[in-house]
Amino acid sequence: METPILLHRISRIDPTCLADYEAEGGFKALRRALMLRPERIVEMVKASGLVGRGGAAFPTGVKWEGAARQPVAPKYVVCNADESEPGTFKDRVLMEGDPFAIVEAMTICGYAIGAEKGYIYVRGEYPLAYTRLAHAVEEARKAGYLGASILGSDFSFDIELRRGAGAYVCGEETALFESIEGKRGQPRQKPPFPTEAGLFGKPTVINNVETFANIPWIVRNGPEWFRSIGPAGAPGPKLFCVSGAVNRPGVYEAPMSITLRELIERAGGVKDGRRIQAVLVGGAAGAFVGPDALDVEMSFEGLRQVGAPLGSGAVMVIDDRADMWEVLLRIARFFAHESCGKCYPCQLGTQRQWEILQRMRQGQGQPGDRARLEDLWATMIDASICGLGQTAGSAIRSGLALMGG
Ligand SMILES: Cc1cc2nc3c(=O)[nH]c(=O)nc-3n(C[C@H](O)[C@H](O)[C@H](O)COP(=O)(O)O)c2cc1C
Ligand code: SF4
Repeated sequence: METPILLHRISRIDPTCLADYEAEGGFKALRRALMLRPERIVEMVKASGLVGRGGAAFPTGVKWEGAARQPVAPKYVVCNADESEPGTFKDRVLMEGDPFAIVEAMTICGYAIGAEKGYIYVRGEYPLAYTRLAHAVEEARKAGYLGASILGSDFSFDIELRRGAGAYVCGEETALFESIEGKRGQPRQKPPFPTEAGLFGKPTVINNVETFANIPWIVRNGPEWFRSIGPAGAPGPKLFCVSGAVNRPGVYEAPMSITLRELIERAGGVKDGRRIQAVLVGGAAGAFVGPDALDVEMSFEGLRQVGAPLGSGAVMVIDDRADMWEVLLRIARFFAHESCGKCYPCQLGTQRQWEILQRMRQGQGQPGDRARLEDLWATMIDASICGLGQTAGSAIRSGLALMGG
């Protein structure tokens, strides 16, 4: 098994102790970054091939470059720590176990794009992650890693924390901005994209916790090192959240060349030696794959070939004892509940999807229900404002297909 990178310090250091973090290489990347020109950092992140780990798989360096080029001040760095995708719990492990790494990475980003202020938007249900991050920010400030003239340079940067209030949609980047701004957390129309007009209408880089966790490693070890890990189209280490009917559910780090079968084996295999009925990849916004797809590579391209997105890296194993109808109904209810109601295709579509599935499940389906669902899915994909509505039918559709429906 490979030596862990992102999980390297987890459970090995005291996450409340700055000296522990420093002893394990902490803040070396920031020191190095401050000796380089900001453009060089952006070039390194671009050359690393790192793509966002929050679900949308957007190239991180391109995002940073977009914000860096804006001739506007102030600019912002935002860490998306809302971790609202069902079945996803990797960011929690990083925030609770290695919080200084997030502070260091955001500070490097601030230097690279010319921002002096960062926000971390933490899932409300993660009180320990919030406490650990708040402590790390305070300690870093005391030690001169945050605040005015960081480490004696002419660069100043500071971080504030915000807590979410339990809405799935607030993980969507523009809804998250609205929430930080004190408004109702609803997505904005895009464009403009955050790099141009993000938080408070200013150029903003928003990245997922795990995306940020890769940054100090790239700055310290270089983009070539990063590219040497995993397949060419999906470089770098990846955290997978394996849950459901496995013997050892948890967060596993692996290059994206790992197959789904190997990942499930790492998680101790299927519980009670049962047969796999389906695996939900990418969370509720993802898709189900069948037992015939176990040899798929867990990369963006590999999963695309079996019709599933890597998404947030969630892998939920459903064994042959589970009632797939119940699983699909839960997902449908989740989307109907979490739709923010800003646009009709999603507000109405998620409700109708849930109703139609309930009556199909009860044997009271009406003629044309299957076609009605297809019509709903097409409309939600085409006309919803944000990814919530666009993906609300994906797991249901793939699940019904596996059930022969
Ligand atoms: C409904 C919805 C929920 C989302 N939830 C999260 C989340 O909890 N965490 C996250 O990092 N990204 C989430 N995203 C993706 C963000 O909008 C955005 O793409 C991400 O923060 C960008 O960071 P990255 O480039 O580092 O992946 C969500 C998107 C949608 C549509
Ligand atoms: S797609 Fe759904 S969650 Fe997104 S803006 Fe429209 S109603 Fe809100």
